[in-house]
Amino acid sequence: MSEGSMLAGKVAVVTGAGGGIGREIALAMALEGAAVVINDVGASLSGEGGSATPAEQTRAIIVQRGGRAAISTDSVAEWESAQRIVQCALDSFGRIDIVVNNAGILRDVIFHKMSAEDWLAVIGVHLNGSFFVSRAAAGHFRRQGSGAYVHMTSTSGLVGNFGQANYAAAKLGIVGLSKSIALDMQRFGVRSNCIAPFAWSRMTSSIPADTPEQQARLAKLQQMTPDKNAPLAVCLAADAAHDITGQVFGARMNELYLFSQSRMIRSIHRSDGWTPAAIAAHALPAFRPSLMPLDRSGDAFSWDPA
Ligand code: NAI
Repeated sequence: MSEGSMLAGKVAVVTGAGGGIGREIALAMALEGAAVVINDVGASLSGEGGSATPAEQTRAIIVQRGGRAAISTDSVAEWESAQRIVQCALDSFGRIDIVVNNAGILRDVIFHKMSAEDWLAVIGVHLNGSFFVSRAAAGHFRRQGSGAYVHMTSTSGLVGNFGQANYAAAKLGIVGLSKSIALDMQRFGVRSNCIAPFAWSRMTSSIPADTPEQQARLAKLQQMTPDKNAPLAVCLAADAAHDITGQVFGARMNELYLFSQSRMIRSIHRSDGWTPAAIAAHALPAFRPSLMPLDRSGDAFSWDPA
């Protein structure tokens, strides 16, 4: 192992580490000295099937570089199996210091055609899974008086996207989960932050490329390799970020972002109270200059990744 030692002595669980962004985070954490539990069910993009091969491939790279890694093929999406993922860290390496909630699936469907199954499957892996794995580690973090969570959110939730009601709701839910963990566990020295990553991976391969404009955007996305997200995840998990918690960051190629979080931006008061008609006549026009545009992620990120 060369690289640094920012995570020396620490044990990390990285969910969905059999490919894409999760694999790169696992590799980067191992290079910084962490022992890593590579959790991945090896599912298809939509969450079907399962295989240990992707996780084994990640482990092979870490071991070949002289690092330490264990494999967990349990799903994040159930309480019991999430407990086993954290237990794998304790059984393999005797402790747990870092949880990276990265596992995910996609079931993109326009809202009026989205089935209950599409909704539940995506909420199950992203939102429930992030809660289950975080919760399974929480008692250990509390007892040892330290721990760091890094959760993958998405600009699909922070900004918006077509056909992703299930995914956007889950990803914005994860932001609320992270902030709540940050508040509730600050007293135990535990931190929780989100990253909105950008990467060309199988998860972005569903982005439509029918028009020349869409094809041009896709060509840009393909330059964004998943490893570009890993340094931020490593840093947020390290003691170097000891006073950073409850934040939402982003990474896109060589750009890093700090995202805002919702606060009141205008207020209006009427001493005799409001009627629906008064709101229409007075409040809505007052708010109108500050209304948020109905934009999508690509509108907010209107320049080429640098
Ligand atoms: P990916 O599809 O390459 O990797 C996700 C991994 O999660 C897969 O290896 C899959 O087998 C695993 N997985 C699925 N269900 C699981 C379960 N129940 N238990 C354990 N593992 C499971 O996706 P990618 O692109 O690397 O995304 C990683 C994370 O980053 C996801 O949370 C995604 O929502 C988020 N993200 C990705 C963006 C991108 O541009 N690729 C943009 C915004 C967010």
